[in-house]
Amino acid sequence: MRTADLGGNRVPRRSRGVRGLAMVPLKRRRVAPSASSGHPSPPRTPQHPDVVIFLNERKMGASRRAFLTRLGRSKGFVVEESDSVTHIVSEHNSGEEVQAWLESQSIPKGIVDSVHLLDISWFTESMGSGEPIMVLITSISNLLEICSEIRFCSLLQVNDKLRLDPPEFTVKNYACQRRTPLKHNNTHLTHALELLAESAAFGENEGRSVAFTRAASVLKTLPRSVQRIEELRGLPCLGEHSLRVIKEILEYGASQEVESTRQSEQYQAMKALTGIFGVGVKTADRWYREGVRRPSDLMDSEQKLNQAQQAGLQHYKDLNTCVSKAEADAIGVIVDQAVQAVLPGAQITLTGGFRRGKESGHDVDFLITHPEEGKEEGLMPKVVNWLDTQGLLLYQKTTRNSYLESKDGPARPPSNMDRFERCFSIFKLESQSCSPPEREKSHQWKAVRVDLVVSPFSQFAFAVLGWTGSKLFERDLRRYAGQVKNMSLNSHSLFDSHQRCFLRATSEEEIFSLLGLEYIPACDRNA
Ligand code: UTP
Ligand code: MN
Repeated sequence: MRTADLGGNRVPRRSRGVRGLAMVPLKRRRVAPSASSGHPSPPRTPQHPDVVIFLNERKMGASRRAFLTRLGRSKGFVVEESDSVTHIVSEHNSGEEVQAWLESQSIPKGIVDSVHLLDISWFTESMGSGEPIMVLITSISNLLEICSEIRFCSLLQVNDKLRLDPPEFTVKNYACQRRTPLKHNNTHLTHALELLAESAAFGENEGRSVAFTRAASVLKTLPRSVQRIEELRGLPCLGEHSLRVIKEILEYGASQEVESTRQSEQYQAMKALTGIFGVGVKTADRWYREGVRRPSDLMDSEQKLNQAQQAGLQHYKDLNTCVSKAEADAIGVIVDQAVQAVLPGAQITLTGGFRRGKESGHDVDFLITHPEEGKEEGLMPKVVNWLDTQGLLLYQKTTRNSYLESKDGPARPPSNMDRFERCFSIFKLESQSCSPPEREKSHQWKAVRVDLVVSPFSQFAFAVLGWTGSKLFERDLRRYAGQVKNMSLNSHSLFDSHQRCFLRATSEEEIFSLLGLEYIPACDRNA
């Protein structure tokens, strides 16, 4: 079985010379002259010179074929009859019919094997996206053609489904249904996809960003490293674009799109600017369009910065240095001291990435509660005041708890932002607690981002679950609850829309069980 080239045309197919179609009688391969009727638009210079499409007139009819030919050419595709044909497209033909037709043309089997035999759906999808949809494997000898998504499967595969080998891996659809350990076997692929996800987020294309994140997440669950693209057959969440990138990396060691994105001025500037605490994508993008490229450009510019951004800029270097687990633990000791000083018996829990077993993170997240419901009210200002008095805070902004079950229950639109009493802060961590090599003599402390959240005891299990992450795991938990269980989950509660009531839980295990999910421990939620 041969692995087909990318639609993205890295392999010089022409040079491989797919000969043989010249043997197809000419009358059967009359191709309409280029557009004369004015629609679709006139042919463009070929954008995809390595994809040469042949439209099979059988059952398609001459006039439709002529129309599709003009359409393809107007989109920059080569549609012709020549010995360079790489993709044969048929409509209303079964795989057997196409095969029989090819045999009737007396084209040597070896040649047929190297051409993609595709259904019209491939053609229309490719026209729609303006680029050739990738075809993963072609082999008429196996009567098998696997495409990136089931709707692109060629007629051949549809006919031969039963003869497919079982897929190499099975992976459940929602991230909350599967185990994703921290260490996995496909980092070279996931880093690339995550960079594209990040870049899409910079462009405020959330759908595209989540799609790349999901694709990366699926690869993280695989028990071993992927060697061949065919091994990914049947896996969920791997769209055409992600598959194309993966395939390129597997074959060439790198993806051109990923590398050019990484090098691009816009990506680098957006990365640097959103790396400033208090700066989101919208602000960074506006600055970029105004010519700002680096945080240092802001120092002597006219740009107005809010307090968070000023602090972010001032501590830029520290805040862009990873927080180690040891530093997180040192901060945990301080937060516990503060909490015990103002409310004895209160409990603190390390959440976020560190609870999932990460060795380093961008911030430290803590959840604070007290076993006696109501005792936690008004706790945050006291904790913050204690820390501030000790000179431990470089910046803080506290928001009050705005969650009311009666108000925020099912009647209100679900909000992803939770409404706990929360403090976004920057801690001044003294150097004995920091990793020594990082500290210079003149700078005996390190600025560290810390998020503090106070939860009533009755909501604690939901809060821990919501704050442990990963973000994709949380997103899929909520999606699963809504789509599969007709329930609504957030960091405060679980609402059963069918029974119209809140479901109580005192542990994460209970919440998974209420959702009908197998319990996934925090260390396996690194989706
Ligand atoms: P983080 O952004 O801190 O991510 O959010 P992280 O997984 O700990 O990773 P790093 O190492 O810091 O980068 C922690 C969790 O808190 C939830 C998110 O779901 C995330 O999983 N969270 C965060 C909220 O629920 N609401 C927020 O406003 C922010
Ligand atoms: Mn975190």
